[in-house]
Amino acid sequence: MTERFRTIIEPFRIHSVEPLRMTTADERRRKIREAGYNLFALRAEDVLIDLLTDSGTGAMSRDQWAAIQHGDESYAGSPSWFRFLEAVRELFPFRHVIPTHQGRAAERILFSVIAASGKVIPNNTHFDTTRANIEFTGGEAVDLVIPEGREPRTIHPFKGNMDLDALGALLARRAADVPVVFLTVTNNSGGGQPVSMANIRGVRALCDRHGVPLFLDACRFAENAWFIRMREAGYADKPVADVVREMASYADGMTMSAKKDPLANIGGWLAMNDDVLAEKCRNLLILTEGFPTYGGLAGRDLEAIAQGLKEAVDPDYLRYRIRSTEYLAEALDRAGVPIVKPAGGHAVYVDARELLPHIPPLSYPGQSLAVALYEAGGIRSVEIGTVMFGRRADGSEAPAALDLVRLAIPRRTYTQSHMDYVIEAVTAVAAHASELYGYRIVDEPPQLRHFTARFAPL
Ligand code: F0G
Repeated sequence: MTERFRTIIEPFRIHSVEPLRMTTADERRRKIREAGYNLFALRAEDVLIDLLTDSGTGAMSRDQWAAIQHGDESYAGSPSWFRFLEAVRELFPFRHVIPTHQGRAAERILFSVIAASGKVIPNNTHFDTTRANIEFTGGEAVDLVIPEGREPRTIHPFKGNMDLDALGALLARRAADVPVVFLTVTNNSGGGQPVSMANIRGVRALCDRHGVPLFLDACRFAENAWFIRMREAGYADKPVADVVREMASYADGMTMSAKKDPLANIGGWLAMNDDVLAEKCRNLLILTEGFPTYGGLAGRDLEAIAQGLKEAVDPDYLRYRIRSTEYLAEALDRAGVPIVKPAGGHAVYVDARELLPHIPPLSYPGQSLAVALYEAGGIRSVEIGTVMFGRRADGSEAPAALDLVRLAIPRRTYTQSHMDYVIEAVTAVAAHASELYGYRIVDEPPQLRHFTARFAPL
């Protein structure tokens, strides 16, 4: 960014292009009907702008592709492992780093060791895989985000913060049953909202008082650090890496998906200071992921992550990254489209229940909007609402707390003109919101139904 002009441009130019296939609205209506109105069942090449997830969908840099050429595929002790280890420890100086093929593998290993029936694990908001891995062991996953974090239109600079009173009360009652407290930065399931350094410190103090370790689910650590720099007194002039290291300094360990902020297409890790816990986790790693110096990854993946971690904390990149999400949110807000405010780090969440008041939650307003965005503009988003969360363990169905549609923005993948197109298409669909209709589910699996359910229009 030059100092004279205000437009925040993409801090890169394009070196290799991937063609996008244009489709007609008729073609898209046919494709989505054939897919049972489930966007997960579409072929990606039938999607124009894919905002399904920011996970593994980022564009790697020239330097990451170059690093891949240095990938050393030795089974044990590869130089790529040591480059990865050094890059991770540069930001997260934990004693043990255990590489995994992605975030949920780190979660599965950790919770297999420390969670069980009778244990309870608090978080600001558990991501689905975190919750599922805890519940798989019989443990209980509890969400304790601040009340503002549950209100789409309440403005708060750190809507991802943990409710310290609620956490304190839980620990006072049940500390002996809490093997770990988690904090997700940024809080994906709560709208990609950040957690303040003061809140991390507050959680640490409670953990110290009750002798419980604190782990970060740190997928979007760099975006969180940037929000701290922008919004929290005393951090504006600190290098991003210092902010990240301070965040890590309050934790005893972390789980990580390298598919998010580390700018890789695959990868993750589990890290911690506890020697005994690390040994147990490594033993499980060897059982299903691989030897401790590669985990579930190839040497070239370790290289891509090591380089990505350096790029993730570059202020020019983060300024553009956070601004591009905000740009989409501001334009939709100006156009009167109801969104979760303020904008999150990696995604904009449209409030479908608010936009489509004539579609009751059990007729899936989020699904209706997501299908309409695809039909109208070839945009793939994801419903985060009653389709995803509405089916209870006893088989009954109830409305989710909110019916949202997430527009997740892959890193460095789309330009501002792609976002302008998204704004135009979402605004056009919203202008005809009253014409949209609900859906019913015609076929669904017993768990995680949103991935494979088939729908029919009402
Ligand atoms: N934790 C958080 C906060 C996440 O957002 C994700 C993935 C994971 C853990 C699991 O990591 O996918 O590498 O196994 N979130 C993606 C999403 C899938 O679309 O939000 P993973």
